[in-house]
Amino acid sequence: MYLAIETSCDDTCAAILDERGRALSNVASSQLVHGEYEGVVPELASREHVRLGPTAIRVALEHANVSLKSIRGIAVTQGPGLVGCLLVGLGLAKGLSLALRVPVVGVNHIEGHIHAILAERAWEPPFIALVASGGHTELLLVEDWGRYRLLGATRDDAAGEAFDKVAKMLGLGYPGGPVVDRMAREGRRDAFAFPRAYLDLESGNLDVSFSGLKTAVKLFLERDPEWISGAASARFVADVCASFQAALVDVLTAKVEAAVLRTGARKILISGGVACNSHLRQKMAALGERLQADVAFPSPRLCADNAVMIGLAALSRLRAGEDDGMALAALPNLDDFPLFAEGGSPPPTELDSF
Ligand code: KG4
Ligand code: ZN
Repeated sequence: MYLAIETSCDDTCAAILDERGRALSNVASSQLVHGEYEGVVPELASREHVRLGPTAIRVALEHANVSLKSIRGIAVTQGPGLVGCLLVGLGLAKGLSLALRVPVVGVNHIEGHIHAILAERAWEPPFIALVASGGHTELLLVEDWGRYRLLGATRDDAAGEAFDKVAKMLGLGYPGGPVVDRMAREGRRDAFAFPRAYLDLESGNLDVSFSGLKTAVKLFLERDPEWISGAASARFVADVCASFQAALVDVLTAKVEAAVLRTGARKILISGGVACNSHLRQKMAALGERLQADVAFPSPRLCADNAVMIGLAALSRLRAGEDDGMALAALPNLDDFPLFAEGGSPPPTELDSF
């Protein structure tokens, strides 16, 4: 049995996986403290991980009906993420590793999102992966497990961050994605023409940028008489949500299409919290049909942050008995992982030498 821990942002997650990678439990405690600030407050998130982490681990063991003594290895998110949050997970994982005398391995959070699908179905590289969440928007070619080519990323706001910020402008609370998605179902996608920043797609640019879209929604609201007067109807809010969501999803769909055409990949994986979005799912499914590509989305529980995906990403290393040991450090930035550099390269070796 393996224990997996994920604390990179505002979900305190623990899971138990068996040797074959089957998830025996999947505990995720979404922190509610951030609601009143309409965004994640890093220090509060770290404190919540300190408070909830041991309980999440205990409940994951109970749900799996497994005792700590049967744990043979521990996987933990090493980064990218909020450094204080990562350190709480690493502290728990390393402490348990010492106490139980079992190996601990660090996992890249993005690599975790890419592995989530394996909890539900067989899925093998090569494929294009779009990981879109509150902190990331990355487009990758997964040539093989452990061999990734970063094709594009956000230049500013992550897709989920744009959802959260627009929801905040509209007074819809945090996290914004689910409520914007819900409201948008009642709205018209063509009600307002918000900009789509394709960033020179013709010449093969696969980066995205959402800060212009976010600012366009802000300026639109600041100038709209219905909104300024405070008399905006639910219909108006639904139209803003649907028009904003359509603009963001159009850009993501166009970039995924360009990535498929460039690489010749026949499979597309969409993961991360934003992959829960119903309009994105529809558009990507339609794209898959058009390109005759197989499109997969993990179920919402596995798209959002969870520890099962961290265990799955670490599975081959856990099985091999690899141990990152006490030198395992938090790596808050994606750039800290050479694995994800253009062209890919081996993981850092200094971690092995402790
Ligand atoms: O992967 P995740 O749980 O955590 C991060 O790693 O950030 O993603 C959370 C993000 C939030 O920004 C949230 O608003 C967004 O995913 N999200 C959605 C939806 N559900 C969650 N965005 C759009 N539509 C949704 N249905
Ligand atoms: Zn995530």
